[in-house]
Amino acid sequence: MIHLSQARSSILFEADGDSFSILYWGKKIVVADKAAQESIVRALTKPSYHGALDVSPGNLILREHSRGWMGHPALRGHRSGVSASNAFTVKNLHHTDSTLTIDFADSIAGLEIKVTYTLTPSDILLMDAEVTNVAEGDYYLEHFLYWLPLAEQADEILDFYGHWTKERQPQRRSIGYGITSREGFEGRTGHDYTITQVALNHATGFRHGEAWSLGMAWSGNNIAHVERLIDGHKSIGAGEYLLPGEVILAKGQSYKAPRAVATFSDKGLDGVTNNHYTWIRSRSNHITKVKPRPLTLNMWEAVYFDHTEAAIRKMVDKAAEIGVERVVLDDGWFGSRRDDRSGLGDWVVSDEAWPNGLGPIIEYINDKGIEFGLWFEGEMVNRDSDIYRAYPDWILQEPGRIPVEGRYQQVLDLTKEGAYNHVLSQVDTVLTENNIGYIKWDHNRHLTDPISDGRPAVRQQTEAIYRLFDELKRRHPGLEIESCSSGGGRIDLGMIEHADRFWTSDQNDALERQEIQRWSALVIPPEFLGTHVGPTVGHQMHRTHSISFRVLNALFGHAGIEWNINEANAEETEVLKKYIAFYKQHRNLLHSGTVVRSDEIVGSAYLYGTVALDKKEAIFTYMQLTSIDNFGPLVTTFDGLDKDSRYQISVVEELSANEFTQKSPPGWWPSLALTGDHLAHIGVQLPVLKPESGLLFHIKAL
Ligand code: GLA
Repeated sequence: MIHLSQARSSILFEADGDSFSILYWGKKIVVADKAAQESIVRALTKPSYHGALDVSPGNLILREHSRGWMGHPALRGHRSGVSASNAFTVKNLHHTDSTLTIDFADSIAGLEIKVTYTLTPSDILLMDAEVTNVAEGDYYLEHFLYWLPLAEQADEILDFYGHWTKERQPQRRSIGYGITSREGFEGRTGHDYTITQVALNHATGFRHGEAWSLGMAWSGNNIAHVERLIDGHKSIGAGEYLLPGEVILAKGQSYKAPRAVATFSDKGLDGVTNNHYTWIRSRSNHITKVKPRPLTLNMWEAVYFDHTEAAIRKMVDKAAEIGVERVVLDDGWFGSRRDDRSGLGDWVVSDEAWPNGLGPIIEYINDKGIEFGLWFEGEMVNRDSDIYRAYPDWILQEPGRIPVEGRYQQVLDLTKEGAYNHVLSQVDTVLTENNIGYIKWDHNRHLTDPISDGRPAVRQQTEAIYRLFDELKRRHPGLEIESCSSGGGRIDLGMIEHADRFWTSDQNDALERQEIQRWSALVIPPEFLGTHVGPTVGHQMHRTHSISFRVLNALFGHAGIEWNINEANAEETEVLKKYIAFYKQHRNLLHSGTVVRSDEIVGSAYLYGTVALDKKEAIFTYMQLTSIDNFGPLVTTFDGLDKDSRYQISVVEELSANEFTQKSPPGWWPSLALTGDHLAHIGVQLPVLKPESGLLFHIKAL
């Protein structure tokens, strides 16, 4: 038996003759000695069932049908119709207390598979695999999937769906018999991508209960499964979705499966979140280690395609006055791109839009101490562009057929050297000739015929964009890249290794955003998630929200503004200044703390908090989404602090709602000293909030 464990979780493997399986994955256990190991194995050995095979396999890692596994296999493939069956044996094994590498081989199938499990100090289980064809002839790989066993009490599955302006909506269902799949083959992760799947008990909430999550660190096609078999096996699986013929391995060639990321938590969904955050933040290149996240003004909704330099200068004046640190010029600065029908792919500053080039405006911005960022969408072309006219065969397409259009555009085949070098060199030139430390990189359509020279190529296209980002960063040290895809269509655990920010959604309505941000942040730390204050009347929903509700919504992320701030009235301008000042003062805490969400709130309100790792300080928002049911106001508690310490809890009135449906405020308003224990269990009485309004709390140890 092999036991990997960290502070709060364990995974036990068993080598039994030729087969290798996972005995247990869950809460940390102690396995004292050999006798205890043997007892665990015996305790979990299955009976053999009437009417079934004479063998009852455990949770086989490779789930071979030839060994009696009756569910979905880990590996599927063939050699032009033969050699579809396999039965792997362990060739080599290496492990420490937190890592395990197994080399499997099947001499009949002519295949080898290497699988590595790494349990990180924050209980994130990383899984990597490589499949190699060691025999003569081609092996047609259909899929390689990672699977983990689920405990009996995991009776529900939580995953996410969505579309443009409504990404990451939760769906939580019972785990029934059979297989439930989420498959994504948009050629990117997409708005409908689940990011991770979480198996959990029906009683598990944010602050309590067991949860097992599994997601892919990959930005291309993907599969997420949960499977319950009639023989009692229940498991969660994930992998890359391969198109037919996408991976054909010649002798000696390997398929490196994208990494899978799993975690177990007995501290509810907050535990899942905090395990991911700790792991992501522990990486040596994590962005907050490089630089605090600059308050960003993105100009898309402020000007759209109307790049009038004088108006932009005026906006920059106001940006400097209120404390903005980075200004980003969005779509429309290049080629013939005066609307979304032409010019995409020609990454040369337009004489028409910017007759003096970008130099003067960048200088104007830099002179005010503000950084400049620029928009690109390098994987795409309009057919009405110089590049498409010159190289019409550089798009992904089934030979002889032009793919349907999405936003009037086609996908550039970055697996072709010429196309890749075209994008790299044009972007590189713009970055070299101008002082640009930040790019917003978009990807605005699904891939429908992701075919390169007749063969499916989503995998290579995905690897090409990773390579391109890494190369741009190598050539321009310090360059930051934002991954955008019609809003939040390419937010995933793979892209975090290549990009520094995600545009969470094109939805800027603060009410709609609450749900999108809440669930995007399940595994992606807030310092990655672009959250912007939108205009008074939102462009997507046409709702009007108070400036307080808008800034509170944008505070808990990589904060910014998406609005022509010259339209802000005096009150809005004042609140914007205070929002920016508060963000700058507290961003280190907002981008490093432990997440606390509440299970106790009844009615539609969200409590979200960040508690400093030393528990000396915390920031919470209470967002009232719709009207409250009861006439009397509610009490909210604040979990996650040190039980024995005393704290001062204060409402940050300058950013909170200032209109309530009450004659007098709660007795403690606006500040009170309480112990961490009392904050967690007694809480404070809330004022009567109007719908679509919120409160900001600052809690500090005394
Ligand atoms: C996408 C992005 C937007 C903006 C536009 C520009 O929709 O999500 O933020 O950059 O493209 O065309």
